[in-house]
Amino acid sequence: MNAPVPTNNLDAFWMPFTSNRQFKKNPRMFVGADRMHYTTSDGRQVLDGTAGLWCVNAGHNRPKIVEAIQKQAAELDYAPAFQMGHPKAFEFASRLVQLTPTGLDHVMFTNSGSESVETALKTALAYHRVKGDGSRFRLIGRERGYHGVNFGGISVGGIVPNRKMFGTLLTGVDHIRHTHDIERNAFTREVPEHGIEFADDLERIIALHDASTIAAVIIEPVAGSTGVLLPPKGYLQKIRKLCDQHGILLIFDEVITGFGRLGTPFAPDYFGVVPDIMVTAKGLTNGVIPMGAVFVKNEIHDAFMTGPEHMIEFFHGYTYSGNPMASAAGLATLETYQEDGLLTRGAELASYWGDALHLLKGLPHVIDIRNIGLIGAIELEPIAGEPTRRAFQAFLDAYDKGLLIRTTGDIIALSPPLIIEKEQIDIIVDTLSDVLKNLS
Ligand SMILES: Cc1ncc(COP(=O)(O)O)c(C=O)c1O
Repeated sequence: MNAPVPTNNLDAFWMPFTSNRQFKKNPRMFVGADRMHYTTSDGRQVLDGTAGLWCVNAGHNRPKIVEAIQKQAAELDYAPAFQMGHPKAFEFASRLVQLTPTGLDHVMFTNSGSESVETALKTALAYHRVKGDGSRFRLIGRERGYHGVNFGGISVGGIVPNRKMFGTLLTGVDHIRHTHDIERNAFTREVPEHGIEFADDLERIIALHDASTIAAVIIEPVAGSTGVLLPPKGYLQKIRKLCDQHGILLIFDEVITGFGRLGTPFAPDYFGVVPDIMVTAKGLTNGVIPMGAVFVKNEIHDAFMTGPEHMIEFFHGYTYSGNPMASAAGLATLETYQEDGLLTRGAELASYWGDALHLLKGLPHVIDIRNIGLIGAIELEPIAGEPTRRAFQAFLDAYDKGLLIRTTGDIIALSPPLIIEKEQIDIIVDTLSDVLKNLS
């Protein structure tokens, strides 16, 4: 038998996407959170500049959500997800589809962004097949795309370290170019002017593989995890047009952009481009209980509703799809968003946010600043031969100074809770200014 493990032993937990050895030498622990702030284990307040991991859109410790979870746990803790139902999942689904673009009126629940991505990709493949178009087996992603960590997601994703260790991944996948063009678009606010022609890369892929083999294209409307890469003016419209011309489904991965992050409920409300499938998670439940949701166009849903009625229409789902606790948290989250006007608050703050961030232009190492809705990115010149070191140091220094930021490569990404006040935006910028001035 193993010796008892002390409760403060940090060794057992192999942390995700973390430099484990560095962390465990000098741990950064949160023990509490309320609205815009975390409390650390050493009793400090840290301003949340990242809404946790792009998910706590309504801020922390929101009473409605806390209460809903407590109540739900005592009322109905779990109900089987297959061949049985419970009212809250249906209520949540019905409320959600009132928010989504018209025609995306059906939703499947998952437990995370990664699972939502797998669900969307499988739905796209199966849809073509039930329509008798089974030769459409290819999935097209984009360089520098992030679609979670499961096999489908890393296959269509375009982040090298996330892919290179894991063998052959899914076959039949290809990628279009990313849209980041710092030479022409540096210091852009909202949508960059240059780069609509990046969409032409989809034409190249279609010419190479033939449209009749392509099931779907999946992209993030704004790529978040690879450092906030913005879609150039007209780019998403062009991708949509090409997909329509060639019978290819368009999937938007809105795990980050969904639920108010762009100042609109979803990316179609911002860009005027509606996908066939919309992948969400994170802000769906304010990050409080893990949950994802995949919205599909009615034609997609309806294509499966054939055959004998006692037969399962789609062989897919999870033990926790539409889980009662998650549904209760989601319903209370939607109420909180609606009461506080959070799904559009980003639009009210976007210009203040953009002005404030762009004040950092000219500080040491800053080679680009970009913003859209309540997202921001500050790209730093990497230290020669030591990529990521400079931004990681900025992350550590900011944390010491009471600000939580997120870094990816040498890019600082910001996405505060949508309840942020202007004074708190100023604090983020002042703290970052201090950090950048003292960074080697
Ligand atoms: C666009 C996008 N898709 C998918 C995911 C994966 O979500 P999860 O970590 O909940 O699996 C993320 C997470 O950051 C994301 O940003």
